[in-house]
Amino acid sequence: MPSVFGNVLHLSVFGQSHSPAIGCSLDGIPAGIPVNVEELNAFMARRAPGRSDTATTRKEGDVPEFIAGITDGHTNGAPIAAIIRNTNTRSRDYDELRRIPRPGHADYPARVKYGNAHDVAGGGHFSGRLTAPICIAGGICKQALEHMGVHIVAHIATLGPDGIADEALDPMVYRAEQQQAILAGQLPCISADAAHAMRKAILRARDGLDSIGGIIECVAYGMPVGVGDPMFDGIENRIAQAAFAIPAVKGVEFGAGFAAAYLKGSENNDAYRMFDGHVAPQTNHAGGILGGITNGMPIVWQMAVKPTPSIAQPQLSVDMDAGADADLSIHGRHDPCIVPRAVPVAEAVCALALYDAVLEDGLPRI
Ligand SMILES: Cc1cc2nc3c(=O)[nH]c(=O)nc-3n(C[C@H](O)[C@H](O)[C@H](O)COP(=O)(O)O)c2cc1C
Repeated sequence: MPSVFGNVLHLSVFGQSHSPAIGCSLDGIPAGIPVNVEELNAFMARRAPGRSDTATTRKEGDVPEFIAGITDGHTNGAPIAAIIRNTNTRSRDYDELRRIPRPGHADYPARVKYGNAHDVAGGGHFSGRLTAPICIAGGICKQALEHMGVHIVAHIATLGPDGIADEALDPMVYRAEQQQAILAGQLPCISADAAHAMRKAILRARDGLDSIGGIIECVAYGMPVGVGDPMFDGIENRIAQAAFAIPAVKGVEFGAGFAAAYLKGSENNDAYRMFDGHVAPQTNHAGGILGGITNGMPIVWQMAVKPTPSIAQPQLSVDMDAGADADLSIHGRHDPCIVPRAVPVAEAVCALALYDAVLEDGLPRI
């Protein structure tokens, strides 16, 4: 199960949901990057389970322990290694899943691929819990980018089958008040009314023994022009590769995305004008990327998160040992909606992908 990302940065994520610890190593990060541990812990807390009635009841502190790579509040040039100890595990909830796979989860293909030797407890290495180490590495990259004037902000764009919609992030300029609202609310939304309606929808799904999904919008403001490459190492490719590492992400789009297919060229093209001696696109349908390269506009992208596969209502499955149909009732603690907890993970993967590209292009880092 190779779990490695990056061209200059090499992020490796290890552990399982119920192993003694999960963690990451981050190789290739330059020396001297300030790491504000308090800020990183606050970032981690946005993803951590057990913080609200819309998430799983599994409670974990999710405070990283740094083993290497950080000295006196900055990177020291050696690879960063960090772990998070798993403290709240109940593996007996999962024994049956080795035999009777959950529809929508990785149990069936993993059993075939790994000859039933894989760890199923809590979803093993496929668990959403593995997004915590991604947030450690991505949180550090996010701080490094902030020192370059790049702000990465994400929120829930729409939630559930009814598409309850939040206000959109400004695709042209960073607005601090939007970010503050997202961080202040019970759910990561700009509009308090949208957050309220979304919370009700999640609780309704939970009470109906079901789950719902949604779309997360993420924007990186302040990226310089000219970062990234055409073909396989474009900024779209890099962000998408990292985003699809997040379990339950099933779609990614940039700028106008799929909707661009319904526009005319005259509508979709971002016209140029000069402003203050700079080239200033007048709109941002491109989502800040042309030819795989940043064009100086905010990087705007979205990811679709499917409804949590583990639902409490009985489902049709098969007994792999008996070779017969079986009914499955899932026990254990599961998020009725993954979307709120995946919002900081979107910021983390965006930061990893962009900082890796910045380092590869050799731009000034701070
Ligand atoms: C933050 C987070 C929490 C998750 N929590 C759960 C959960 O409680 N129960 C569950 O079945 N899936 C959960 N998932 C999703 C599964 O891990 C994922 O659907 C599964 O590994 C199959 O991968 P795929 O959906 O990408 O194909 C979570 C994902 C994330 C990002």
